[in-house]
Amino acid sequence: MSFSVFFAAVSITAALTVPAGAQEPGPDPQIINVSARSTVSLDGIWKTIVDPYENGYYNYRMKPLDAAKSYFADNDFDKDRTKLFEYNFNTDGTLQVPGDWNTQRLQLYYYEGTVWYRNIFRYSPEPGRRVFVYFGAANYEAVVGLNGEKIGKHTGGFTPFNFEITDKVREGDNSLIVKVDNKRHADGVPTVNSDWWNYGGLTRSVMLVETPETFIRDYFVRLKKDDAGKIDGWIQLDGKDASQTVVIGIPELKISHKVRTDENGYAEFEFKAKPELWSPENPRLYEVTITSETDKVADRIGFRTIETDGTRILLNGREIFCRGVCIHEEMPYGTGGRAYCREQDLVLLGWAKEMGCNFVRLAHYPHNEDMIRAAEEMGLLVWSEIPVYWTIQWENPETYANAESQLADMITRDKNRANVIIWSVANETPHSDARLKFLSSLVARAREMDPTRLVSAAMEKAVVGKDLLTVRDDLADIVDLVSFNQYVGWYDGTPEKCDRVNWTFDIDKPVFITEFGAGAVYGRHGDRTERFTEEYMEDMYERSVNMFRRIPGLAGTTPWVLKDFRSPRRQMKGIQDDFNRKGLVSDRGGRKSGFYVMQKWYEELKEQYGE
Ligand code: GCU
Repeated sequence: MSFSVFFAAVSITAALTVPAGAQEPGPDPQIINVSARSTVSLDGIWKTIVDPYENGYYNYRMKPLDAAKSYFADNDFDKDRTKLFEYNFNTDGTLQVPGDWNTQRLQLYYYEGTVWYRNIFRYSPEPGRRVFVYFGAANYEAVVGLNGEKIGKHTGGFTPFNFEITDKVREGDNSLIVKVDNKRHADGVPTVNSDWWNYGGLTRSVMLVETPETFIRDYFVRLKKDDAGKIDGWIQLDGKDASQTVVIGIPELKISHKVRTDENGYAEFEFKAKPELWSPENPRLYEVTITSETDKVADRIGFRTIETDGTRILLNGREIFCRGVCIHEEMPYGTGGRAYCREQDLVLLGWAKEMGCNFVRLAHYPHNEDMIRAAEEMGLLVWSEIPVYWTIQWENPETYANAESQLADMITRDKNRANVIIWSVANETPHSDARLKFLSSLVARAREMDPTRLVSAAMEKAVVGKDLLTVRDDLADIVDLVSFNQYVGWYDGTPEKCDRVNWTFDIDKPVFITEFGAGAVYGRHGDRTERFTEEYMEDMYERSVNMFRRIPGLAGTTPWVLKDFRSPRRQMKGIQDDFNRKGLVSDRGGRKSGFYVMQKWYEELKEQYGE
């Protein structure tokens, strides 16, 4: 066959097999509290193929291939060598799941593109049992296929998603294939520009979730807003047997409250209760059971109130100061990489506790669920955020839909965690009417989904006079906190500037400094004026704390950042080496001077607030 004829044949074939604009469906509604359900872990070593040109997904005209022609077909050259295949999962590489690929293979250090993952799992379907494949997260876009069929697509690198496979999973071996692509997109969330490494991969656990025909998919159990003598919330069943009697049980409170779900499987509830309240000093959790006629799920839930009163943040009616720190979701030691297990989360959160924190800002995206649950058990309040970061495409409706979907997934997953007190919709975003509209819609959506928590964003400072600083942002009128990042002493002047600036706020809301900091290489010493020395960091932190003492209505601080983290923006060899060095702890666990300045001040605040 001559070359031109060959391509003609391929193009005709390609045209016939690829439906125009083939779009995979999105995920099914998120199942919450999966750790309490019947699951089959798919974590471990997966077969992989690195596919920078997406050959396994597009034909040579960049049209999506029909599944049978794509890598989802999982064709096996070894089985039939008369057929033309140009890939073989059996002979390519492997990757650990969960885990990013950038830190598993040197060749993938900078890789941004597609990697195909395959897991052959053995299964025995049972009548009356439904099966979902659940992903803790995949950065950034995942297309999922099972037994040669594409089943769906998810966009967003930090939130869970699941697809029902009840009618697709078969007896014996099943071939689960996932195309993960971490390329950045200008219309993405985040966009192409960020100060963190764009780790790609199946970065969190993958599992099968097994449920009854009709099961308890979602629920919200909390102290009733503005009436702490009651617990209220709602339950959502999933399945055809929608109208059922459901019992909410809290054995320690001798509560067993019955409700009836409607024809959509939904029921609201409210009952009197006087639980011991969750707080950082007493992170009290209760066993809560939800039992329907066909399913039962248990969770550990804490009860507390959170509100603001003028410039005060009130937890359980008592004024608190949020003694915090910002944390990126990176492994505590070594060359970076997404943290992916509870043991790593416990190290990071242990450092925060050692510093004297009662609060962590989980930047700049939803962290893995274990991180939130571990923080809840340890008595750490949480600021949880979606990656609406810097220069987002504010006027792009698809970008907005993506952001709102990530916000909804974050709230859906963590709304029963007492320690989460703030949903954040953005970080350091440039002012414009389109940006204000975009963010106002996200704030409204957060309040609609969860009226019980504070909603905010990390804004930026403004100069309103000589050495007179404030926040000038219409968003501050809409959110619950005047929360902002400021770098006086690092990006804005040198540490001595902290001594002479003053802050003024004309909004009667709590002031919250969500970022400040300085870079330092652990163990690098020199004059206090020399950048990247521990002396400079100590000077900046000491003067910053003295400046904070002068800020009216300050209710919280979260220095940037707990630990040095990988960023492609930090390229000074010998000092940064692809790491942002503002960590109070080095990437090898060394506590820097700033760590101890914060520890001392937080100890003082703890006494001042009577904790
Ligand atoms: C910004 C941004 C962070 C970034 C930090 C820095 O405030 O929010 O994501 O890492 O500054 O420049 O180190």
